[in-house]
Amino acid sequence: MLTSGGDCQSLNATMRGVAKSLYNNVRDIEIIGFLEGYKGLMREEYKIMKPSDFSGILTEGGTIIGTSRQPFKLMRVIGEDGFNKVEAMKKTYKKLNLDCLVVLGGNGSQKTANLLSEEGLHVVSLPKTIDNDLWGTDMTFGFQSAVNIASDAIDCIHTTAASHGRVFIVEVMGHKVGWLTLHAGLASGADIILIPEIPYDINKVVEAIEKRTRDGKRFSILAVAEGAISKEDAKLSKKEYKAKLAARPYPSVSYEIGKKIEEKTGQEIRVTIPGHTQRGGSPCPYDRVLSTRFGAAAAEMIMQGDYGKLVGIKNGEIVRIPLSEVAGKLKTVDPDASIIKEAKAVGISFGD
Ligand code: F6P
Repeated sequence: MLTSGGDCQSLNATMRGVAKSLYNNVRDIEIIGFLEGYKGLMREEYKIMKPSDFSGILTEGGTIIGTSRQPFKLMRVIGEDGFNKVEAMKKTYKKLNLDCLVVLGGNGSQKTANLLSEEGLHVVSLPKTIDNDLWGTDMTFGFQSAVNIASDAIDCIHTTAASHGRVFIVEVMGHKVGWLTLHAGLASGADIILIPEIPYDINKVVEAIEKRTRDGKRFSILAVAEGAISKEDAKLSKKEYKAKLAARPYPSVSYEIGKKIEEKTGQEIRVTIPGHTQRGGSPCPYDRVLSTRFGAAAAEMIMQGDYGKLVGIKNGEIVRIPLSEVAGKLKTVDPDASIIKEAKAVGISFGD
């Protein structure tokens, strides 16, 4: 078993679900925890787990076996010291005589899981990420916990923004997608929500703020995804946009948007970035339930020898999706989805 990539709140709850289910249903089961993700598998750094290791961790954030980012694009690149990562992982798997590798990971980690599956390893994967951007599953574990934290942050900003009559920007994580910003923004009554899937026009953003001012509202709150992009930047090629970002004189998109709003409205702007708090702390009850279900479903797949698949959830029911279908695909917010229409119906601006 390994946890890979950025952590999130419900990793331990998921591992507990897998382990408890296996211990309860299989005789002589042994679980090995690889330390710090794929790195542990490459370097043969692991811990033989005991049933007691999985007790009392349902509510614990982080991961008891550690994690690390091991970029997929470097997996096949041989190190300067001649180290072959893929061969090393296969060697450890064979040496320890494993029946199966259980991977808890997000997009990049699922690509590596697929690679290992194609190399002949038995892999069962679980969908981890606060970004909720994994293709093939309606929900990833960690997402709802992060929505709670980002919503709390915006709730707190509401009172201070109202007192001072300021425009506040809260920058929300989510990498290249807007799920977290959309849900936290809706949950906490943000006035403007900017997400990568709906490129914004700064003049429309300003119009929305000025309309609020005309309507007698003394403050405005923007929930801005860290990957939010303007309409003009969305027209650039990937390479051009990357170069523009590298030369941007602001630490992040929110500061750039804030500066522009200040210039155009003369209003006082503040930026708040909850950052990694969104990945921290205890999983929310929704995630604990999801993780327990995912864990038990993964254990069932292991018992049945149904490998090379990701456990997911569709319309409330557990599904098994081939890793080859999941790898490399991003689940983004559909700008035409009804949730966007409903948000607009209550007056939220997307700056489009
Ligand atoms: O993928 C989860 C995530 O928290 C993203 O939302 C964010 O862009 C990224 O990881 C941050 O990565 P790191 O923890 O490496 O700074």
